[in-house]
Amino acid sequence: MNSLALRRTKRLTGEVTVPGDKSISHRALILGALAQGGNRISGWLAAGDTLATLGAVRSLGIDVQWDGEELVFSGGELSTPTEAIHCANAGTAMRLLAGLLAGQSFSSLLDGSDQLRRRPMSRIVSPLRQMGAAIEDTEGHAPLHIHPAQLSGIRYELPVASAQVKSAVLLAGLFADGSTTVIEPGPSRDHTERMLLAMGTALHRHDRAITLESDAGELAPLEMHIPGDLSSAAFVLVAAACLPGSDVVIRKVGLNPTRTGLLDILTRMGAQIELTPSDEQGGEPTGDLRVTGNGLRAVQVQGDEVVRAIDELPILAVAATQAHGETVISDAAELRVKEVDRISRVAGELRKLGAEIEEKPDGMIISGPTRLRGVAVSSHGDHRLGMALAVAGLLAEGETFIEQAHSIDDSFPGFAQTLARLGAEIS
Ligand code: S3P
Repeated sequence: MNSLALRRTKRLTGEVTVPGDKSISHRALILGALAQGGNRISGWLAAGDTLATLGAVRSLGIDVQWDGEELVFSGGELSTPTEAIHCANAGTAMRLLAGLLAGQSFSSLLDGSDQLRRRPMSRIVSPLRQMGAAIEDTEGHAPLHIHPAQLSGIRYELPVASAQVKSAVLLAGLFADGSTTVIEPGPSRDHTERMLLAMGTALHRHDRAITLESDAGELAPLEMHIPGDLSSAAFVLVAAACLPGSDVVIRKVGLNPTRTGLLDILTRMGAQIELTPSDEQGGEPTGDLRVTGNGLRAVQVQGDEVVRAIDELPILAVAATQAHGETVISDAAELRVKEVDRISRVAGELRKLGAEIEEKPDGMIISGPTRLRGVAVSSHGDHRLGMALAVAGLLAEGETFIEQAHSIDDSFPGFAQTLARLGAEIS
């Protein structure tokens, strides 16, 4: 799917599920590789980013079976990879694997696409070096050459709220002498901590400090169903919230409170969202969401809420184009180092559709409501930008073409079909 064409859609109705959570899918492979015994994981996301992690774990000697339904594999000793580990566009894969590999007794090389090579890696290289890791980077970027090293635990204050950095340090901590503490400035997603706890590890949280004990213990195998990705559900939610008369149910979505910022923001904007909790899976709260379309009003988004909605800010910008008033997103400078600079690219592409967006160093100001007009826009190789633009295409007059739409498969294979099932006009 190299391009995607969408037309203005009246409303969305029906029930869908979305593919498995990307963050949890990466972690299930990486932590499962260290488990003592056999893991069984269903609901795993088979998409560009997570398939890179699957390849990486296999190249470390772990025999992972994936039949399209279930991942079945035993953890164990990792072995020397025979070639460079290619992380494609997946920042999570590269940063978490760097933490895993820093304390091994063999060398490895982590590399990725040109897009990933542009993303900052000093944020993980610096704390890992403080632990004693021997990592050669490329001026703060990938490729990363990782050499054998004996690590020691540290107490590390994260300069930015980043789950990838926190997880890299905790993963390295599993192979370090002494305990490891990470202090975070904001509530970044805590899937690594929940999974480590579900696997029986000695890990504690006190306010914003997470400590992995010196002898964290063996990791019990994982048996879980990975919930649907709320970050993927977000596109469906916003589309339905912006199209009056819509009524959509999304079943079995992950509702981890470190991820639900968008639900709080949309509710403040006036969207009707009903949440029905179901069972926990691997320590992760799960449930169904129902959203009905209504008028939206502008809001201010800043601070911890930004951290809890960081991947949803591109689609929030689309919602803001339909809201009455001025939506101000601040404290979001991290958006500039995502797959692309998500402040300048989101503003640039939405402006082509007629949106009124002012770019700020740490966010955006969006005025609404505006009537969007369909034109050709590009994902610039960023899955979430591609999907945000597609939703804008459902709201815009005429036809919207999304170029480089293939990048959507990095996190949400079947995105267009899911929207079409709900009545979206897609060709
Ligand atoms: C992720 C953490 C976030 C998020 C990314 C996935 C993870 O990145 O934006 O999509 O799975 O740990 P940062 O850790 O850089 O904030």
